[in-house]
Amino acid sequence: MHVRHLSIGDFRSYPAAEVALEPGITTLVGLNGQGKTNLVEAIGYVASLSSHRVATDQPLVRFGADRAIVRCAVVRDERESLVELEITPGRANRAKLNRSPLPRTRDVLGTLRTVLFAPEDLALVKGDPGERRRFLDDLLVQRQPRWAGVRSDYDKILKQRGALLKSAAALLGGRRRGRRSQSAPEGVDPRAAAEEAVRTLDIWDDHLATVGSQLLYARLRLLRDLVPHLQHAYREVSANQSEATAVYRSSLHEEAAEAIARGEVPEIDELRTMLLESLARVREQEVERGVNLVGPHRDDLVLALGEMPAKGYASHGESWSFALGLRLAAYHLLRHDLGDDPVLVLDDVFAELDSGRRERLAAMIADCEQVLITAAVPEDVPAGLQGRTFTVTLGEVSAP
Ligand SMILES: Nc1ncnc2c1ncn2[C@@H]1O[C@H](COP(=O)(O)OP(=O)(O)O)[C@@H](O)[C@H]1O
Ligand SMILES: [Mg+2]
Repeated sequence: MHVRHLSIGDFRSYPAAEVALEPGITTLVGLNGQGKTNLVEAIGYVASLSSHRVATDQPLVRFGADRAIVRCAVVRDERESLVELEITPGRANRAKLNRSPLPRTRDVLGTLRTVLFAPEDLALVKGDPGERRRFLDDLLVQRQPRWAGVRSDYDKILKQRGALLKSAAALLGGRRRGRRSQSAPEGVDPRAAAEEAVRTLDIWDDHLATVGSQLLYARLRLLRDLVPHLQHAYREVSANQSEATAVYRSSLHEEAAEAIARGEVPEIDELRTMLLESLARVREQEVERGVNLVGPHRDDLVLALGEMPAKGYASHGESWSFALGLRLAAYHLLRHDLGDDPVLVLDDVFAELDSGRRERLAAMIADCEQVLITAAVPEDVPAGLQGRTFTVTLGEVSAP
């Protein structure tokens, strides 16, 4: 697929911009701060309903404006779809597909698929587990948009259960320490309140295990499919002998976590049972701390080069190649799955690569249906790869 046209209004630094795009390679060139990334960020937003740079929508809206508009014409198999998004921070965003309003914004997911690689991706290797969980979950949604619903259900369950744990912590914690509970409301028997809290917790354990097992299963399946692509991509990019691996580290109890780390993918029912067992084992701790301690939200992906973990051990260049390897693996997985190329976005990445890596990356992406590249200095992009070049100056995009 490819983006044929991008139109934005009050998005980031742009009051308005219209950009006509074509298949093949397009390079956006301009000095830093001119608005190159803002453009590809808008395209990434259409595909994922999130930004690769910020966790909230507010910074996406031009400072002083109250909503941003992003319109994107996407061509797949010669059929064109028009996605229109209205980003209204603090209120529900709105989406239209081919001019018809969609019941939920997330119903646009799947119309455009992108894989975006940016300097921020170094955090995939060096950053917190949350970065790697997000990588997996975002890819899950790119692959099959229905996972967006599961993901959002899981987040809601965590919130509710977390709140419940906090209140249970006050009730049950006080009881265990042999003190009179502080938090049972006046006229309420503290023991009855505590028993009620336990019953409610049981129900939420069940919700967490039901939805959590689906998410966990999907991640494990995804990882199993992704790793061969990762190994291939890392080898191609880095020309390095050590093998890149990614092993799922689960917060389940030890036996279950070990099986998963060996690469086993239990069925959803088994995972559900494992989650319930694990929750039972940590119940006391959870109530003590008032925190959800078990489930996919506590898991990590351990990235390694050969025997050594990448985090803390890999050099800057190796970490960079690893992050790039993960994104290219995502690209190849989607291409393979969908029988269609996602749009590849390379934001400001060539400047970070040495000439060998640049040339190898150039060779790898030459056959992609559409590649959007941003660069401050055109010389950083290998000759022959630049394709059509747009110049971006102070929020003005000028065609070649
Ligand atoms: N919400 C916003 N409103 C107005 N300007 C913004 C907003 N967000 C970012 N900018 C401006 O956009 C510019 C950065 O654009 P960016 O696309 O990241 O540049 P680059 O060309 O280096 O990729 C900065 O000058 C920043 O101040
Ligand atoms: Mg930039």
